[in-house]
Amino acid sequence: MEIFREQNHLGRLIHVEPNASNQYIAHVWFDYSLKLMQNLKEGDFIAVESFASNPDGRRHYVILEVVKKLPIHFALVQSVENAKRTYPGFLMESAKSASLDWISQIDESTEETTKIVCEAIPINLGFYITESGVEGPSQSYELPMPGREVKVISYEFMEKILNKGLDKKETVVEVGHLRENSNVKILLDVESLLRLHFGVFGFTGAGKSNLLSTLISKIMEKSPSGTKVIVFDIMGEYLTLLIDLLYKYPDSKVIGVGAETFIQDLYSYYDGNRDLKTAVKSIVITNLYPKRLARKDVKRKFLYPVKKLVERKAFKVFEFGRFKLIEEVFEEAGLNAINISAKDREIILEILNSYKGRLAYEVTADVVKEINSKLTSGKANTEKFKRELLRLLKPPKFHVNEDLFISLEAGWLQELNDKDKKAIYVVQSHDPDSLKRFVSYLASAVYESRRREGRIFPLISFILDEADEYIPQDTYAKGDSKISREAVEMLARRGRKFGLGVGIATQRVVYLDTNIMAQPHTYFVSKLPRSTDRERVAQAFAVDESMFEQTFRFGKGDWLLMSHDATGLESVPFPIHTENAEDRIITFLESFEK
Ligand SMILES: Nc1ncnc2c1ncn2[C@@H]1O[C@H](COP(=O)(O)OP(=O)(O)OP(=O)(O)O)[C@@H](O)[C@H]1O
Ligand SMILES: [Mg+2]
Repeated sequence: MEIFREQNHLGRLIHVEPNASNQYIAHVWFDYSLKLMQNLKEGDFIAVESFASNPDGRRHYVILEVVKKLPIHFALVQSVENAKRTYPGFLMESAKSASLDWISQIDESTEETTKIVCEAIPINLGFYITESGVEGPSQSYELPMPGREVKVISYEFMEKILNKGLDKKETVVEVGHLRENSNVKILLDVESLLRLHFGVFGFTGAGKSNLLSTLISKIMEKSPSGTKVIVFDIMGEYLTLLIDLLYKYPDSKVIGVGAETFIQDLYSYYDGNRDLKTAVKSIVITNLYPKRLARKDVKRKFLYPVKKLVERKAFKVFEFGRFKLIEEVFEEAGLNAINISAKDREIILEILNSYKGRLAYEVTADVVKEINSKLTSGKANTEKFKRELLRLLKPPKFHVNEDLFISLEAGWLQELNDKDKKAIYVVQSHDPDSLKRFVSYLASAVYESRRREGRIFPLISFILDEADEYIPQDTYAKGDSKISREAVEMLARRGRKFGLGVGIATQRVVYLDTNIMAQPHTYFVSKLPRSTDRERVAQAFAVDESMFEQTFRFGKGDWLLMSHDATGLESVPFPIHTENAEDRIITFLESFEK
């Protein structure tokens, strides 16, 4: 294996500057050539001999990552202030002639005045070059020798460094490739990713939801058996973005919190009042699609997999309080707390006693009828109780067939704990607050049951897209987000020992609760235009904020990946590119057309 590339371009380590987050920043200059300017990229690895070298010939090199690169012409002014003090005629003329040096030095550097000036940080790895070859990479905190020559590391060796220790693990996937070189594959251990939480941060349109889809698809492929992924889908994007996985894993479901989440035609089909085709068509028409999948000829291809989901009863409804007894509903309405006249209380208890022990939803219609006809005193407190009771007993807007309800009590918890079958669950709601309450309910129930039973398998990952909705700081909290935040914080702090992980994605990092923000061990970071967001990420992961300058040039699917344990390279950010999830979905949809 070649260790170095660009062998005719040597750099020099000009200066080593102490730095709190990275130990030091190395200033490295290369003689300029157009080729090197094109071939040396931010994210590349370079090597400098260190003080661990032996005089007997074993040479030790430390590995540095280039984080900044600038072409500098020393015959030109070095700052705008200086430019403003220079006679413009002279300045323009000298700039014109200096600029020729950029294009006259193609493969080789001939001018002393042109340099490629880089900043690089140590990645805490090094290697030895001995007579018999290369040893390493291995951990190294050695200092490089200032003034010593700097060599550019080959892509092949880079791949080995980036994926150190991962190639033999069973739970490893190829998450993407190095941003600058599609031949350098990047591996990621999905078990660590899930168990130790992860975050995806980038401004709107950066591709966060798309990346989550890609990650989930890779997770499903290589995670330990029985792994479950639950996606809280406040925008309603994931029936589309995960259609292939919903189809492929037969226990997977789309869960609507509140019957109004789904359309009437779906329920009518199960009640025998609509044909399957109509129901499926209505779902496909009203579903959300990213631009490329929204074209009519593409959308049409969703009909088949959605039909299979409907046939399989993969659309499920969750209703809060569905398993409440009628006496619990009366109590919730204030029966025991409120001051009602003895006579009215007697009427109420009489009605209640004739239904006691029954599930509320089964007797709702009869109870409502009796309350309305018998409880007619008109006294303020009685009216208040009545109003509250009728509100709680309000029947769902649609008639929902019994088979469509899902609940932890009636089998879902058991399914989540199944050690063999993998599944994904996309949870949507017509009402954002209901979704927040559901996050809280589900996280607490699952956590409690695991704690009680001492259960650590299978892994369950709670994935929150638009995470600022569920885990905001107090200042930004609205609706029921305080209760979802409490539950997610508990998962983020204590879930890992029970096999419960959290994944979060957001465009506004500053909105997030800082305690939770600091928990993930793996981050994917794209462009964050606001410096406050960048500061927060830098702080949480303990890297220098200047690391994020390279993200300004990132396009869709480009991410700065940093992980304490899921990548081969520990705790050092490096730029990767991930595939477009829409390509995977289109391939899936087209597989039915052959
Ligand atoms: N890896 C990728 N390669 C190519 N295009 C991509 C990639 N990821 C996303 N895109 C494109 O960018 C668009 C926006 O992506 P996406 O919806 O995932 O962004 P987002 O960050 O979730 O945005 P928002 O903040 O609005 O939720 C998509 O429609 C898709 O076409
Ligand atoms: Mg999104």
